[in-house]
Amino acid sequence: MRALIPRCRLLRERSVGKSCRTSIVLNHLYTRYSLATRGSGRGWLLVGFTVATFVGFLSWAPVARAQDSTIRAVQNIFDPLSAPAETLYSVSLLVMAVCAAIFLIVGGLLTYAIIRYRRRGPEDDQEEPPQVYGSAAIELAWTVPPILIVVMLVLVTARTIGEIQHHQMPAAAEEIRVIGHRFWWEVRYPKHDVVTANEIHVSLSDRKNRVPTEMILESADVIHGFWVPQLNGKTMLVPNYRNTMWIEPYATGVYLGNCTVLCGQQHANMLIRVVVDKPDVYQKWLESQKQTPVSDSQTEEGQKQFVASSCGTCHTIDGLQGANGVFAPNLTHFASRATLGSGVAPNDEQNLRSWLKDPQVLKAGCLMPNMQLTDNQVDAILAYLRSLK
Ligand code: CUA
Repeated sequence: MRALIPRCRLLRERSVGKSCRTSIVLNHLYTRYSLATRGSGRGWLLVGFTVATFVGFLSWAPVARAQDSTIRAVQNIFDPLSAPAETLYSVSLLVMAVCAAIFLIVGGLLTYAIIRYRRRGPEDDQEEPPQVYGSAAIELAWTVPPILIVVMLVLVTARTIGEIQHHQMPAAAEEIRVIGHRFWWEVRYPKHDVVTANEIHVSLSDRKNRVPTEMILESADVIHGFWVPQLNGKTMLVPNYRNTMWIEPYATGVYLGNCTVLCGQQHANMLIRVVVDKPDVYQKWLESQKQTPVSDSQTEEGQKQFVASSCGTCHTIDGLQGANGVFAPNLTHFASRATLGSGVAPNDEQNLRSWLKDPQVLKAGCLMPNMQLTDNQVDAILAYLRSLK
């Protein structure tokens, strides 16, 4: 009975957002199995079933109140938490099962032939084995089944691609434009007039009341690749071209991803954070992003320095005269983001100070030059930026 608890805890962690019916069924089967092997009486059956049901319930309960700050950093396709990623996962399972079966059959026959027909001594050298040539049956056996298998895989894959690409977006679906830059992500919410960077907030979906998010992927310079494995497959961001993809996450949390096309020196630090929130939390976030930051006497000096040091040529801060550049991340709500420089470091005071003094220290090769700010300028701008919640 002991093995039941850790197993279920593991399931709970790994299956957030999926139906936990699986864990209940597994618990049930486990209970039945252990009882069958031990030959215990009915009392045990009842106890086992009760415990299994209870643990199954526990494993379900946290799903309803999943933490928003859970980091979902799985960088492979085997733990999908979104509609298209789940579809890709099931196709990959089919392909792997077919390949595994072929491997076992071919490997098994090979092993059998090697052992059964090995050289057993000098007497084997006396006579030649039977010389077979042109057997139609054998030729057909090793050409027709492989062709059928490949055709089957092509059909299944083509159907899946069609399903994902031609998925009808409901009118209520959110639309986001993601624009790849060297080496950061511009994120626009055209329906809400919100612009942010490097952190993509989307709404949670559930299987009954589906809330997909459509993403239009573009590039401002070179080819980038967008990949958050738990949400969907890779899609490229190509200059002068519009690619689209959609996601429909079933669990809240912070999903991590990467740029997947070598785009320059800081390609590896072009990290993606997709924050999946419950619909009401997401709406609140959108509202907060629409607010223009309020200035006070404490940050006035920083505002002045920000504009005087030409930061506003590249960066936009809503409501600040002289700060409307579009070459670099929009900083209107900079302090609300968790990381600096597209995920290169946590967004805290120490890192921000280092960044303002010389961005090339944290992210060598990024396109922001060292602005040669004095310590006083750094202090003022730092206080201002940290007020932009
Ligand atoms: Cu952008 Cu690699």
